[in-house]
Amino acid sequence: MRIAIIGTGNVGSVLGRRLGEKGHEITFISRSSTGDRAQQLSSLPGVAGVLTSLSQLDSPVPAVIYAGPYDQAQQILADAGDLADAVLIDCTNPLNRTFDGLQLGHTESAGEKMAQWVTNGRVVKAFNTTSVATMADPTYGEHTATQFFCGDDPDAKKAVASLIRDLGMEPVDAGPLSNSRYLEATAMLYIHLAVRGGWGGNCALKMLKRTVD
Ligand SMILES: NC(=O)c1ccc[n+]([C@@H]2O[C@H](COP(=O)([O-])OP(=O)(O)OC[C@H]3O[C@@H](n4cnc5c(N)ncnc54)[C@H](OP(=O)(O)O)[C@@H]3O)[C@@H](O)[C@H]2O)c1
Repeated sequence: MRIAIIGTGNVGSVLGRRLGEKGHEITFISRSSTGDRAQQLSSLPGVAGVLTSLSQLDSPVPAVIYAGPYDQAQQILADAGDLADAVLIDCTNPLNRTFDGLQLGHTESAGEKMAQWVTNGRVVKAFNTTSVATMADPTYGEHTATQFFCGDDPDAKKAVASLIRDLGMEPVDAGPLSNSRYLEATAMLYIHLAVRGGWGGNCALKMLKRTVD
C-alpha cells in the first residue's frame, strides 16, 4: 500500500522503516526534504522519498499516518488539505506540558479532534499505546504486543488491522473513534509506568484470553 507519513521523529521513522521493509511504499512528509536526515530516510527499503507537503504527491495515497505533535495537528492537517478519503491513522497522545497528564479526556479525545480537523479523511486511532521500542520489535518471548485501534469506518479499520499484522503485532479492535478517550488514557498509564514506574520502553500491553468450559 502507498502510505504517507507526516513526521519523521521517533514514531514516524520507525513505522516508515518497518512498513517499507514489509513491502509498502512509504513517502515521508517532513518540514525538511533536504539534508542528511532526509537522505538517510530516502535510502531505506520501500521509501519513495521525503516531501514537504502531501500536495507534492503525484496522486493521492490511500493511507496517511499522522506521527506529528498533537499541539500542531490542527494546523498541519489544515495545510495537508483534502485527503481524498484516505485512512488517517492518528498516533497522537494529547499530553500536557509536563508530560504527566492529558490535556483532554472523558468527553473528548485527540482522535475525535483529528476527525474534526481533517478534510475528507477516515480517522483510525492506532499506535498510541505502544512505545517506539515495541514498534521496532513487538515480540516479547512467546507473546506479540497488542496494538489497539478504534474508528468509525469498518473498511478503514480493516486496512489498519492489516498494517498492524504486517508489523507483527496483534490488532485489537477497541470500538468506535470516541473510544480514543480510553486509548489515550491507556497510553497515559503506559507512559507513567514506562517513565516513572521504572518499566522503561521495552514493555508492552497484551490482551490475554482463555476458553472457559
Ligand atoms: N515516542 C513514543 O514512544 C510515542 C508512542 C506512541 C505515540 N506517540 C505519539 O506520536 C506522535 C509523535 O511522537 P514522536 O515521539 O515521534 O515525536 P517526535 O520524535 O518529536 O517527532 C514528531 C515529528 O513531527 C514533525 N513535526 C511537524 N511539525 C512539527 C512541529 N511544529 N514541532 C515538532 N515536530 C513537528 C517532526 O518531523 P519533521 O522534522 O520531519 O517535520 C517531528 O520529528 C506524538 O503525538 C506522540 O504523542 C509517541
